[in-house]
Amino acid sequence: MGKLSSKDVLRSDQFSKDEITLILETARRYEAAVDAGEVLDVMKGKVLSTLFFEPSTRTRLSFETAMLRLGGGVITVAEARSSSAAKGESLHDTIKTVEGYADVIVLRHPQIGAAKEAAEATHRPVLNAGDGAGQHPTQSLLDLYTILKEQGKVDGLRIALTGDLKNGRTVHSLALLLSNYDVSFLFVAPDALKMPREIVEQVKAAGVDVAETDDLATAIREADVLYMTRIQKERFEDTAEYDRLKDAFILRRAMLSEAKSNFTIMHPLPRVNEIETDVDDHSGAAYFRQSANGVPIRMALLALVTGRA
Ligand code: CP
Repeated sequence: MGKLSSKDVLRSDQFSKDEITLILETARRYEAAVDAGEVLDVMKGKVLSTLFFEPSTRTRLSFETAMLRLGGGVITVAEARSSSAAKGESLHDTIKTVEGYADVIVLRHPQIGAAKEAAEATHRPVLNAGDGAGQHPTQSLLDLYTILKEQGKVDGLRIALTGDLKNGRTVHSLALLLSNYDVSFLFVAPDALKMPREIVEQVKAAGVDVAETDDLATAIREADVLYMTRIQKERFEDTAEYDRLKDAFILRRAMLSEAKSNFTIMHPLPRVNEIETDVDDHSGAAYFRQSANGVPIRMALLALVTGRA
């Protein structure tokens, strides 16, 4: 049995460096196979259930594409109102039911800790596809894969995480995952949306240098990788506060004149207005390549946790 066989994927800080390397190498192998036109049957006879109780385009579709590319089958709940959760069924009972149908479960849910609760309810591997403002570990693995492909390395990079660092689960997971490497961080956010202190402390305890600012221009000048994020409207209780902060950072093409020549711009997507479309044809604008990288990374995760890699 492999290292990650039968494991859940709940948080980005659950992985050892060896496990991260295994995931990246497995993804690289599957990506090359698909690019070469190979038809894979690694997951033949296996069924993936995707349960999405919050909206998604990339995560759900790339997990489903990954399973189909590996020769497996998919059953899905694409929105809470189309499942019996709308009739009051508990997450525990939903998961106990789905384990009778599927070999592996991918869950997105609005509550922090929901994926852990689901994992405790079943012997099937559960992969966290985003639990509220908590974590999004499979996103951070595809982000890491993207940085490696775009920059050719991770060690030595200065990485700016920008936007809604308080509520953005992608930046929580990415900061913790990248703490396995010799990087330095610039956390760029307005005061009200700063990175949670426990994540800053955990990153610093791992020996990573962290600076914080609310100045996007500094990040553009200093960083090798600029990771933009959306202000997470759905996490605000006060709409006036959202309106005050929603335009905090908007990246425009003209602002990139002082960026390094091999500058990489990432975004987990969806974007609202935080990257203007005139940035899209910049050679460093990697966000659509980044979303495509979700397929090989999720192929690797599905095959590894089911012991089929
Ligand atoms: N990056 C991401 O999680 O996108 P979706 O919300 O579309 O899945």
